[in-house]
Amino acid sequence: MAAVDINAKIPNNVDLAGDRRLQRALEQWQPKFVRWWEELGPAAFARNPVYLRTAIDVGQEGWANFGHVEMPDYRWGIFLSDREKDRKIAFGDHKGEDVWQEVPGEYRSDLRRLIVVQGDTEPASVEQQRKLSLTAPSLYDMRNLFQVNVEEGRHLWAMVYLLHGYFGRDGRDEADEMLERHSGDADNPRILGAFNEETPDWLSFFMFTYFTDRDGKYQLASLRESAFDPLSRTCEFMLKEEAHHMFVGASGVGRVVQRTAELIREHDTDDIHQYGGINLDVLQKYINFHYSVSLDLFGSETSTNAANYFASGLKGRFQEERRDDDHLLKSVYRTVPDWTESGIGAREVTQLAALNETLRDDYSEDCQKGVDRWNRALEEAGINFTFRLANTSFNRKVGTFRDHHMSPDGKPISDAEWEANMDRWLPSDSDRAHVLSLMTGVSEPGKMAGWVAPPSRGIHQKPVDYEYVRV
Ligand SMILES: [Fe+2]
Ligand SMILES: [Fe+2]
Repeated sequence: MAAVDINAKIPNNVDLAGDRRLQRALEQWQPKFVRWWEELGPAAFARNPVYLRTAIDVGQEGWANFGHVEMPDYRWGIFLSDREKDRKIAFGDHKGEDVWQEVPGEYRSDLRRLIVVQGDTEPASVEQQRKLSLTAPSLYDMRNLFQVNVEEGRHLWAMVYLLHGYFGRDGRDEADEMLERHSGDADNPRILGAFNEETPDWLSFFMFTYFTDRDGKYQLASLRESAFDPLSRTCEFMLKEEAHHMFVGASGVGRVVQRTAELIREHDTDDIHQYGGINLDVLQKYINFHYSVSLDLFGSETSTNAANYFASGLKGRFQEERRDDDHLLKSVYRTVPDWTESGIGAREVTQLAALNETLRDDYSEDCQKGVDRWNRALEEAGINFTFRLANTSFNRKVGTFRDHHMSPDGKPISDAEWEANMDRWLPSDSDRAHVLSLMTGVSEPGKMAGWVAPPSRGIHQKPVDYEYVRV
């Protein structure tokens, strides 16, 4: 294991100093990254000192350092988790063989594609969220936004390191293109649909970090299983940082639910918009939107690409090694949903063909946990309302349901029914306008916007009213 070189121009634990060519190439990419950050990173408070954690090591204890930093001076580094001795490939046609330290020629373009698609999402979310610092509900929240942003920047570094280090000229070109595609750009958009949607308000941000970052967790967890060991070790460490992003989402939505419940009780009405809160049915619509958009990120129910990635050992399943089957999946079967005129049917296919659906199932189950927690909070507040995850067929743009209207409870409906109910199921223009009208920046330590409850505790044992961003 290479030691951590924290003072290098690019902090790293991959012995960059021992590979001058690679070091030079990455040092040439660095100013392009900085330029991109300054142009498309946070739009406000971009130069204020922020109480951030910076990765300085990968060990269990003390891998992060907390302190006030101006974001442009953040030490974006390259960190891979420790190498697991004698690690073997856990699935697919190469099961049982040694993992690869180099990219096998026959898998070069597939692996490059996987890394590029993952890498592209990282700067995309920074671009989507760039204006949110203008309207942060508190300094605590602004700090969390910036933490997520700098870490997505580091995740880009992680993927760019792999591209530069293992894919030669093509990899360097791909790394440059990561900074040339932009979220929502008509001519040169980001690769995946959900990453071209705007994140226009903080409710959307909390929903995005809950639902869409969680897709990231499942993608990274299945890449962590990869036979290409440097990719596996990179993703392993990224997952540690990712946990905080999902905490921001889960606790963020939870705090909105809590505040909504308080306002309902205080004013004895379900309609609290006039009191500066967000109604429960609007929250449900935001859940419907972000959940369905994130489900699309997993791809079609059956996929030859996913099957090939698995058979070749490039991408496994969530917690591959804990599963009790042959890890080849060619002769084990499952059903996947199938659209029919009369409702949702089922089609039996090999598990190998259905890997996207299996990962989507794991993801949905995980999403439900937060929803259950929000429901418990409502119950404890004595409010008779239950949040639900829509049926996975609802509002889908990818897979068997893509050209069909489905209700949130999974019934096929006509175009007319869809039109008539759309505003009851998905955020309407007036819902979005109301949420947007609540977004006024609060930048006094300890103060909190009226639509969201304060967090139960601060970051890294600091109090909630700590000056997380010096203004
Ligand atoms: Fe990320
Ligand atoms: Fe993330």
